[in-house]
Amino acid sequence: MLWIWAVLSLVLAGSQEADSISEGSKLRRNVRETEPNCPEGLYRGGQFCCQPCQPGERKYLDCTTNGDKPRCFPCKEGKEYMDKENYSDKCRRCAFCDGEHGLEVETNCTQTQNTKCKCKSNFYCNAPVCEHCDPCVSCEHGILERCTSTSNTKCKQERSRNHLLWLFIIPGLAILLVAFVYIKHRREHHVDPESGTANSEDMPMNLPDVDLRQYILNIAEEMSLDQVKTFVRKNGMSEVMIDEIKNDNLQHTAEQKIQLLQWWYQAHGRKDAYRTLIKGLRRMKRYALADRIQAIIQADIENTNADTRNENE
Ligand SMILES: *[C@@H]1O[C@H](CO)[C@@H](O)[C@H](O)[C@H]1NC(C)=O
Ligand SMILES: *[C@@H]1O[C@H](CO)[C@@H](O)[C@H](O)[C@H]1NC(C)=O
Repeated sequence: MLWIWAVLSLVLAGSQEADSISEGSKLRRNVRETEPNCPEGLYRGGQFCCQPCQPGERKYLDCTTNGDKPRCFPCKEGKEYMDKENYSDKCRRCAFCDGEHGLEVETNCTQTQNTKCKCKSNFYCNAPVCEHCDPCVSCEHGILERCTSTSNTKCKQERSRNHLLWLFIIPGLAILLVAFVYIKHRREHHVDPESGTANSEDMPMNLPDVDLRQYILNIAEEMSLDQVKTFVRKNGMSEVMIDEIKNDNLQHTAEQKIQLLQWWYQAHGRKDAYRTLIKGLRRMKRYALADRIQAIIQADIENTNADTRNENE
């Protein structure tokens, strides 16, 4: 009896299966005949037209009735996602934000949405589709615009700093040049007042025997009374004579200077007087004074007598 039941159930099952198969092939035939593809929004899963799985899911088994839902499984949270309705049997793998390429997570991957990456701080990406970020440039000469996630730092140009530098260098060079020319000029035309005695001894040797009378006034103006007294005293004028001139012109120091110089010049005579005057002032270490007097006389000689100037040089 038992085997009869077994056979019966087998037969029954077989007939059911056969039924469903025949029904399926009948449907498939219908779809093929009337509509070879599934209607809009449905997909062909085996013999049937199925609905897609929801976002966040993947298809596990096709539907078993036309227009029905397939069996769907959720995507693995944090690893996979499916952002649209789909009938794919695989979820998509979540993207990985590669720190090596300057990326970091903006939003984590969910079952329905892929990871969103952004540039790490101090990285930027200006490509329309960003696959990696580049490190922001660091500026040596100051920042014009800060780095953003979509644009690199904009630096001040070194050139602009050079412009600033030139503002200092050019006047500096100009000053040096002027100083150089001035010193050269002084070396050529005058004795440096601070330079050694060798120069100061040499120069008066070239001085012509000019008539100093016409310059006494100028010389007196350049010198103080004490300087004049010291000079005449050292150049052979007696204290008696100095005192006499002083007493004759007690209130007039300018006159004293002029008379002292005139007396000295008369006593000395024209020959070598100019040289003696300059030499004497240099011996008194009044180099600048000697230079001034020489300059006055030299200028006068040059103005009036070009030939004399040539001799001097
Ligand atoms: C399903 O996903 C596949 C890729 O996995 C894609 O080609 C297809 O367009 C998607 N279909 C729908 C309906 O989103
Ligand atoms: C993403 O998830 C991780 C843990 O999985 C968490 O540490 C991190 O803060 C999350 N990031 C964001 C941007 O939500």
